[in-house]
Amino acid sequence: MKNFKNYIEENKNRFINELFELLRIPSVSAKPEHDRDVRSAAELLKKHFNKLDLDNCEICETKGHPIVYGEKIISKDLPTILVYGHYDVQPVDPLNLWDQDPFNPYIKKTEIHPEGAIFARGACDDKGQMFMHLKAIEVMLENGDLPCNVKFMIEGEEEVGSDNLELFVKENKEKLSNDIILVSDTGMISKTIPSITTGLRGLSYMEVELTGPNRDLHSGHYGGTVANPINVLSKMINSLHDSNNKITIPGFYDNVIEVSEEDRKEMNLTPFNIDEFKDSIGLIAEHGEAGYSTIERQSIRPALDVNGIWGGYIEEGAKTVLPSKAFAKISMRLVPGQNWKRINELFTKHIKNITPKTVSVKVTEHHGGQPYVAPTDTIGFEAASKAYEDVFSKKPIATRDGGSIPIIALFEQELESKTILMGFGLDSDAIHSPNEHYGVSNFLQGIETISKFYYHFTNLSKD
Ligand code: BES
Ligand code: MN
Ligand code: MN
Repeated sequence: MKNFKNYIEENKNRFINELFELLRIPSVSAKPEHDRDVRSAAELLKKHFNKLDLDNCEICETKGHPIVYGEKIISKDLPTILVYGHYDVQPVDPLNLWDQDPFNPYIKKTEIHPEGAIFARGACDDKGQMFMHLKAIEVMLENGDLPCNVKFMIEGEEEVGSDNLELFVKENKEKLSNDIILVSDTGMISKTIPSITTGLRGLSYMEVELTGPNRDLHSGHYGGTVANPINVLSKMINSLHDSNNKITIPGFYDNVIEVSEEDRKEMNLTPFNIDEFKDSIGLIAEHGEAGYSTIERQSIRPALDVNGIWGGYIEEGAKTVLPSKAFAKISMRLVPGQNWKRINELFTKHIKNITPKTVSVKVTEHHGGQPYVAPTDTIGFEAASKAYEDVFSKKPIATRDGGSIPIIALFEQELESKTILMGFGLDSDAIHSPNEHYGVSNFLQGIETISKFYYHFTNLSKD
């Protein structure tokens, strides 16, 4: 087995500078004013693919943001790894809560990352993690050769639901054929406890709009005589959970696959400290569905949360107004057995049922995706496990994450291959939040672990 550590150490400053260049591009997929930036990020990636001497490098156009593709096929007899990641990022607001410009990356030491962390939007999710895969290819090529075939498919719409990637995958099954899909877009337990993500939750994202009077009204003249849409919406939202924090939408839990007592026991043995969890996000008390631990609530149980609620007057000072409209964006995290399209229907039907006749209601669907669980008795998992052990001197723990990467379940359905989620982010890295960052050592160890994976996977594929 090759020792890549020296090469990574000698080249780390350049690796970081190259990542900085990518982080400087504000490729926010959700905002049309950043469309050109999103394209620039795709172009920069293609340049890196060319520099790595990948073949068939291409910016694949879609109805939305492009997909960047490149491959290195050495031999039909060797296994093929398909790398997936995303170069788009979340919006930065609230901008005033960032210590510095989110698109001017810098390194700062933190308690958890004493060697320094890279601060920028996308540092961890997912430019930093995705970029490790490009550098791993460089490491392997410069220190011998690639042990197997590789295909790269990096998209620019993960943060807005991957709708166009779905079509691309369906139309390019042959081009994307592979033996395993490798993704770094999740987290690990802690800096010294490596983990492999074996489950992701699904997602159903909805929006509700209530309309009462045909215009905003004087809240003195009309107050008490008109159903206030914000009051009504609050009451409706409140009724979506019962006193045990179970979701009250009829049929919501119908097909949920319950995890066995044995698996639950094992899951609760993973290193997790509830006080540290509370401290890390400033909580006074825990909360969630009765009968389940926080680890379980976060991974094997569904959840419903309001992501935003608005209407009426929210500027400085007071304005006496009884609003015409109230809005809420609501997401539901789903677990195996649940189908996001069916959940969309159940939600819509239920919201319509509980809307009083004093207001009118409109329910719209945003993006969604299926949950994913991966088996651990595969050569992909074994190869990943060995790779982590090489670098961290510890066997990784299998964990199920609460977040969603909707395209992963679709990969399994369309390409019939499993995905290995080798994530190196930490919960404290603040993805989607102000001051997102990524530990320099996580970045460098990630590059090494990924490189090792290629060799283990190729060897295990021979048996
Ligand atoms: N990388 C995240 C998903 C993630 C983060 C999974 C941490 C597990 C641990 C991804 O970029 C993301 O943010 N996904 C969205 C869904 C998407 C459709 C907007 C999410 O989970 O909210
Ligand atoms: Mn991501
Ligand atoms: Mn994300």
